[in-house]
Amino acid sequence: MKIEPAAAVMGHFGVPGDKSISHRAVLLSAVGEGETRISGFGRSADTESTIAAVKALGVRVYEADDDTLRVFGAGLRGLEVPKQPIDCGNAGTLMRLLPGLLAGQDGRFELTGDDSLRARPMERVAAPLRQMGVRIETTDGTAPIVVEGGPVNPISYELPVASAQVKSAVLLAGLYAEGETTVVEPLPTRDHTENMLEQAGVTVRRKRTTIKVSPAQRLQLGELEVPGDFSSAAPFLAAATLLAGSELTVHGLNLNPRRIGLLDVLERMGARITVFNRRRIGGEAGGDLDVRHAELVGTTIGAGEVPLLVDELPLFALLAVHARGDSVLTGAAELRAKETDRIEAVVDGLRSLGAHIRATPDGFKVRGVPTRLRGGSIDARGDHRIAMLGAVAGLVSREGVVVQGAESAAVSFPGFFDLLDSLRGATS
Ligand code: S3P
Repeated sequence: MKIEPAAAVMGHFGVPGDKSISHRAVLLSAVGEGETRISGFGRSADTESTIAAVKALGVRVYEADDDTLRVFGAGLRGLEVPKQPIDCGNAGTLMRLLPGLLAGQDGRFELTGDDSLRARPMERVAAPLRQMGVRIETTDGTAPIVVEGGPVNPISYELPVASAQVKSAVLLAGLYAEGETTVVEPLPTRDHTENMLEQAGVTVRRKRTTIKVSPAQRLQLGELEVPGDFSSAAPFLAAATLLAGSELTVHGLNLNPRRIGLLDVLERMGARITVFNRRRIGGEAGGDLDVRHAELVGTTIGAGEVPLLVDELPLFALLAVHARGDSVLTGAAELRAKETDRIEAVVDGLRSLGAHIRATPDGFKVRGVPTRLRGGSIDARGDHRIAMLGAVAGLVSREGVVVQGAESAAVSFPGFFDLLDSLRGATS
């Protein structure tokens, strides 16, 4: 797909429900008590995998309309062994969180996924669960993985990597333990699991990087509202910032402080983004954003900030390429373990469009030039975030960008290209 250059992006819009929260909503309501009604659900290839997984585990999910689900929970220990292995598709969050719940079920469960997911590290989840007494095997550290439920011991676990997925797996297994389970993070990561467990009536005690979960008798969710996905809005925030004359308003976004590190980085770079209508949406911080074009200057991002914008770091590279002066990212080796090696994908892709950027073992270095990139072609490598990066790069280029494998955007945001067209359409 070729993305032609744009003069500006203009308009008001909302984005689909947050992917991280949507996965958690389906997983927790699957082991909930009675009916949970999920509104604002973010439909995408990844979250469809989660719906299919819980259905395969014997949970009834009634898809009332596109973004409303009614999930009839099987209770904490009521999941059934499916006839086939559970196919997690491309969804890392599903493959890493589900074993936490399977730890407390009767039976033997096998989880697999697509080529990309089967290449990603899974021992990071298996190791702590094994410490809890769960029988879990990976295939040379990757999927397929096999989990056999049984008694679960409470542990205190220090995460070797800052990963919300691993933290969540341990906390979910902790629901079934015979005492309080503690997780200590090296840095604060997204806390949607903790928030939703509290909403479900579970006792969660937390400090900045220490989380303690008590065993649960039952989860009672009732109603869950999913706010708009900040990570899906981020490509448009980047486009509006880079294109002179742009004016965008985004409504109903999740503004969980552990998700919006990009706003702080953009502010340091000189962007003009205003948050207004701050309110609670679905038990988390939310609000609306106004974005105007701005001239940017380079900045540095280190390890401490990385978890707060981990999925937006490809976009940071594009912003840095257009800023005045140098930018550096360090402490982000985790990017190499995402849907593809995102350091290589970003650096190879943007260089081929004319950018001055080079890879380092744990990030990249950029020499920014405040002018449009030439353009060319970028391979999404099957990674939704790289497909969306390529699209924004096309909008802000001189000659446009061909995004190879653009369809992978549907992994998190099926309507992405239609929205992009409609915002460009408003330009005169
Ligand atoms: C996610 C956590 C992050 C993030 C991913 C979603 C989650 O992964 O990159 O897109 O929903 O918990 P890690 O836990 O591997 O950092």
